[in-house]
Amino acid sequence: MFEDLQPAPADKILALIGLYRADPRPGKVDLGVGVYKDRDGKTPVMRAVREAEKRLLQSRDTMTYLGLAGDTGFNTAMSGLVFGPAAEFSRIRAAQAPGGSGALRLVAELLKRTRSDATIWLSDPTWPNHMPVMRAAGLEIREYSYFDAASGAVRFADMMSALATAKSGDVVLLHGCCHNPTGANLDTAQWAEIADLVIERGLLPFVDIAYQGFGEGLDADATGLRLLAEKVPEMVVASSCSKNFAVYRDRVGAAMILAKDSAQADVAMSQMLSAARAMYSMPPDHGAAAVRIVLEDATLRADWEAELEEMRLRMLRLRVQFAEALRRQSNSDRFDFVASHRGMFSRLGLSEAQVERLRAEHGVYMVGDSRINVAGLPEDGMDAPAKAIVSVLD
Ligand code: LMR
Repeated sequence: MFEDLQPAPADKILALIGLYRADPRPGKVDLGVGVYKDRDGKTPVMRAVREAEKRLLQSRDTMTYLGLAGDTGFNTAMSGLVFGPAAEFSRIRAAQAPGGSGALRLVAELLKRTRSDATIWLSDPTWPNHMPVMRAAGLEIREYSYFDAASGAVRFADMMSALATAKSGDVVLLHGCCHNPTGANLDTAQWAEIADLVIERGLLPFVDIAYQGFGEGLDADATGLRLLAEKVPEMVVASSCSKNFAVYRDRVGAAMILAKDSAQADVAMSQMLSAARAMYSMPPDHGAAAVRIVLEDATLRADWEAELEEMRLRMLRLRVQFAEALRRQSNSDRFDFVASHRGMFSRLGLSEAQVERLRAEHGVYMVGDSRINVAGLPEDGMDAPAKAIVSVLD
């Protein structure tokens, strides 16, 4: 049965976890997988989430099925968190999903059901798992230019020209904030231009928001998404709690639909839940229940927001310090964009060979496209990785 199978290629991001763990060098630096780390290199359980878990264990008297949409309180709370208090909730439906990837796939399955010949436009570059998820759902893929590696900025004019060729009914996947892998983000005026374009061309915006609270702040990071939601008749969203609630392994996300009206929202939701039933039936409960407890309790929520803000500010500080260290080591402003990028990632613009040399010769781990996770930078020793990076430049 399996004799004709070839081994699947390892996932380029997840493979780094094992490589890094197996590296015995004491000074190794992990800038690979997108996981938040504190000053000690740990990824702690957030205070409010820990408390919510305690309450959950004490109060839970059954583990019977919840239903295809998972925890409905979680879904309501997440819709509010993402769309904001002014949203038209009668047009919004949300389904708890197994992580951000599960939410992406669920939305992709809905798109396939509603438009069997749908083409989805992905940013070039984008998170490496976007393509396999969309392909697995049977969607056609095209790409729009997004990033200028030399300046570290968004190629907005090129992005708009590419999207101007999309045909009515095509879907545009946009990173809600903290673009992965580049760290270069759209500003509010650019989001407004995109909203006009998608309306004019009859495109469907699909926002992936996996890092809300890691860029400019919890509400600020949803500005573009909310601006779209105010203007467009329909849109879809995949959100993740992996990073901003640090519940990575519990797989917590939500797939959301904004429809033209409540009746259409109900129909779309029923199709999405039927797709869920065919893939995994129901999402896992624990992490989403803990997130719901945090979001529904004013004290826990305030503490979660405060801790999230500490994490965001730490990443900003690390960005500035690393850009300074790279300036010192390279005697140039080549990497200054690291300080102005937002979120967890920046893409440095190194070749795969240079990235490989960094790993082999210096124990500095980053994704092959030279994406770094700034949260992994050593706060007290920025010059060592900066020096290593400069040493592999041509
Ligand atoms: C990342 O981009 O590193 C994270 O989202 C982890 C993953 O699943 O790829």
